[in-house]
This record gives sequence, C-alpha cells and structure tokens, in this order.
Amino acid sequence: MSTTILLTGGAGYIGSHTFIALREAGFEPVILDNFANSHPVVLERLERISGRPVLLERGDVLDTAWVADVLRRHRPAGVVHFAGDKAVGESVAKPLKYFHNNIGGAVSLLRAMTTVFEDGSAPALPTLVFSSSATVYGDPASVPILESFPLSHTSPYGHSKLVIEEMLASLRRASPAWRVGVLRYFNPAGAHPSGLMGEDPADIPNNLMPFVTQVAVGQRPHVNVFGNDYATPDGTGVRDYIHVQDLAAGHVAALQALLSKGESFTVNLGTGRGVSVLEVIRAVERACGKTIPHVFAPRRAGDVAQCYADASLAKRLLGWEAKCSLDEMCADAWRWQSGNPNGYRG
Ligand code: WQD
Repeated sequence: MSTTILLTGGAGYIGSHTFIALREAGFEPVILDNFANSHPVVLERLERISGRPVLLERGDVLDTAWVADVLRRHRPAGVVHFAGDKAVGESVAKPLKYFHNNIGGAVSLLRAMTTVFEDGSAPALPTLVFSSSATVYGDPASVPILESFPLSHTSPYGHSKLVIEEMLASLRRASPAWRVGVLRYFNPAGAHPSGLMGEDPADIPNNLMPFVTQVAVGQRPHVNVFGNDYATPDGTGVRDYIHVQDLAAGHVAALQALLSKGESFTVNLGTGRGVSVLEVIRAVERACGKTIPHVFAPRRAGDVAQCYADASLAKRLLGWEAKCSLDEMCADAWRWQSGNPNGYRG
C-alpha cells in the first residue's frame, strides 16, 4: 500500500507539525497549500527538521479538477484535511468567507476524492482525517466533554465545522467504503521542540498562548484577561490546552487506525485537563523567566467558562493520549517565539 498522505493546508500550524510526525512514522506526506493562512518559509523549516525535500502542490482546494489531478498523480493512501479558515471572530464578521472556504473546500475535496479518472481508475480507497474542533460542542452543559454531548454552533466557523462533520456522515451512509476519522481539537498550543516551527498568527493573535508569548518577547505591553468572574477556581476561563506535538501524534494514530482497521470514528483530541488563563500566564512566566503584565478586562462575547475534554475514547480506539505537560508546551512556545519574534516573516 502507498505510504503517501496528502495534507491539505499542510503548511499551516497543525499541518506542518503533522507533516514531521508522519515522516517520522514512515509515511510520505505531500503538502497541498495556497499559503492563504500559512507561509512558504515553513517548507524550508520542514526540510531542515526532516533532512529531506518537501513535496508541495501549490494551489487551492476549491479547484476540484486540479485536486483530482493531484490525487491521480500521487495516489495517496489517505488525505488529512486541514485547509480552511479558523478565526472565530472573523467568521462572525465574514460568514460567507467561512462557508465558502470551509464548506466549499470540503465539498471540493470530497468530490475530487470520488473522481473516476479517464483510465477508469480512482484515487485509493477514500480515507480521510478531518480537522474538526471542540467548538462544535457550543456551550457545554458540563465538563469534561464527551463525544456524545449535544452539538451546536456559536459562530459561522463552528457552524462550518458542524456542517462538514454532517456531510461526512451522509457520505459514509451513502458509500460505506469511506473510512473517516473526525478529530475534534481542543486548544492547540506550543511549538516544535526545535524552535523552528510554531504558531504564527497573521496579525493580533486571537488565541491566548501566542498573545502571551508576544507579551513575553516584548511585542505587546500586557495580556488582557477576558473576565475574572467566571465560576472557575480562579475566576478566569478554563480550557484544554493540548501540545501541537501531541495533536500531530493524534493524526498519525488516526491514519494508522483507519488504514489498518478501517473503522470510522469521531474523537476528542485533548488532555482531559482544564487550565485557566492565569495558570497559562504563570506557566509562560516560568518558561521565559520574566513577569508577564496582565490586566483584567471584560468578558469576551461568545466565551464559555469552561471547556475541556474527556479524552478516553481516543485512548480506547486509537491507543493515543496526550503526553506533554503545560510547562513543556510553554517552554516550546517560548523557544519558538523568542527565536522568531516575527514568526515566519523574519
Ligand atoms: C482561551 C481562553 C479566553 C485571549 C478558540 C476557538 C476554537 C479553537 C481554539 C480553532 C479563553 C482567554 C484569550 C486573550 C484571554 N480554534 N483569552 N485573553 O476561545 O477557547 O477557542 O481557539 O479551531 O475553535 O473557539 O481559545 O485562545 O481564544 O481563548 O483572556 O488575549 O483565553 O477568554 O478563556 P478559545 P482562545
């Protein structure tokens, strides 16, 4: 069987770390990316880390005929679909962009994967890992969150993830040959231990970890803590921060399960531990050896008090569990940020 795996959006934050983990597991990943949400410099970093050239197909996942041709030429054993937009706030302001790029992009990829080529052949057995998000749980009634919890959306971004999950379920009912792994990420954070790759927000970071490390490196004056009156141990928001390296390992485990057992699944990828905003700030202070100024600000619209995973299903089905600690996550994030104050823009 082919060991080729196609990574749509593979030059992005999660995709690039998954690329390395796949190569280390003996797969041959190919990156499909238009660099709308990533930077070409990542390719050089991937080559430095893995010691080998990177196979890139530069283009848009919305170009169905081109994607089908990529699949014909590479004949991957499986596809991991990362490509899409992921800023919750932006999705509220620009819903059509998210429906077009995320839902349209998924439809385009799935249609390409079901193409029958002129010579009568088709891409390998349709095997897909989909990058979903804990945001499909909306505002959970309790924590930790199980995969069986009710699903809802609180933003067009979350809505797009939910629609794609539902599309995949319909596809599997119509064509049982599809092997699909849906991965619901909690809060990805951290960076590659080499310090050569990490999270590189395009402008002001929405997410907490990159904002805190930008304050630590002196790019921003202080952290705004959005609310300290939540019903949580220290009053600040509690989330399940998972090291991007653990997340990458989760994708390898998902592909190995699909290719060996063939059973489809939907699992949480989280640590099962809830961590507050103040705990993150203190952990980054330990990593960088500096005090990180922070001020308490009003709650951010749409935020929930607590969101963390029950990660036992992924352990049972995939033999996967998160291994990295919050301190390891912050140490790796700090090494990346301090070595690359402007991310990949140099
Ligand atoms: C975490 C906590 C904030 C910034 C989002 C998406 C989710 C996924 C991850 C894509 C919250 C607080 C944050 C700041 C703060 N994205 N915070 N000051 O909102 O849990 O999840 O990103 O898949 O889909 O919803 O992550 O990092 O924005 O916030 O106090 O400057 O940090 O209130 O409690 P979130 P986040």
